[in-house]
Amino acid sequence: MTDASELVELAAEIAREAGELARTRRAAGVEIADTKSALADIVTEADREVEVLIRSRLAAARPQDGFLGEESGAERGTSDITWVVDPIDGTVNYAYGIPSYAVSIGAVRGEPDPAEWQALAGVVFNPMSGELFRSGLGDGAWLGDVRLRVAEPTGAGALLATGFGYDPATHAGDLARVARVMPLARDLRRAGAASLDFAFVAAGRLDGYFERGLHPWDHAAGALLVTEAGGRVGGAGRGDTPTNALTVASGPGLYERLRALALGE
Ligand code: IPD
Repeated sequence: MTDASELVELAAEIAREAGELARTRRAAGVEIADTKSALADIVTEADREVEVLIRSRLAAARPQDGFLGEESGAERGTSDITWVVDPIDGTVNYAYGIPSYAVSIGAVRGEPDPAEWQALAGVVFNPMSGELFRSGLGDGAWLGDVRLRVAEPTGAGALLATGFGYDPATHAGDLARVARVMPLARDLRRAGAASLDFAFVAAGRLDGYFERGLHPWDHAAGALLVTEAGGRVGGAGRGDTPTNALTVASGPGLYERLRALALGE
């Protein structure tokens, strides 16, 4: 049986190298290579290069594992472990020179489907701040040698974050969701990198986070950070699985109220 800490260590080493590549590529100038589903859904050459680097390092270290990446798709392995990777989460920030983006690397056991998998390891690295958030199943969530704990707001108002999916047809619904949730909020952030939103919930820098339209690579690493920091993560279903229809992450005290308002229940 693979030890989660080995996976965390490998993910951290590769995330640092990948983040350094993203940072130096950005400093050398960046061009938007493609627009995917919508105007905001962009991919840069750097996204592709960074994913190639991560994929090749993982394949060299653990050729038996599967891979699911934002830019290059899925490949099944012969082991029961799949790496779920967003090479540059926060690509719009990256393209515009906003220093808030991250390499997100998760390792999961089981089917490469969030409803079926068990997250084993999660690493989120922001090369601009140098912060590397890491978590292994049962080992807690960590920033350097500081163990992370979610915040537990006591009713004085929560600092919340959200994101907006790329499909313009969903924006009215996104704004209605924000309006429903605002009575819980002291203030609201839309910082532009889902993996960092999760990491900040884990670190207690945010009280809660909600978003519609997340993909597995947006939450595979970050969701484990939150649960290992004592928080809850779930979605539109009753279970604790982030879903594309809705993802919610917060401390346990806020979770049910935040989820219910976000869903419009
Ligand atoms: C996006 C970011 C953004 C979130 C989107 C994600 P990408 O990831 O995390 O904050 O609102 O839902 O898709 O495209 O920059 O890797």
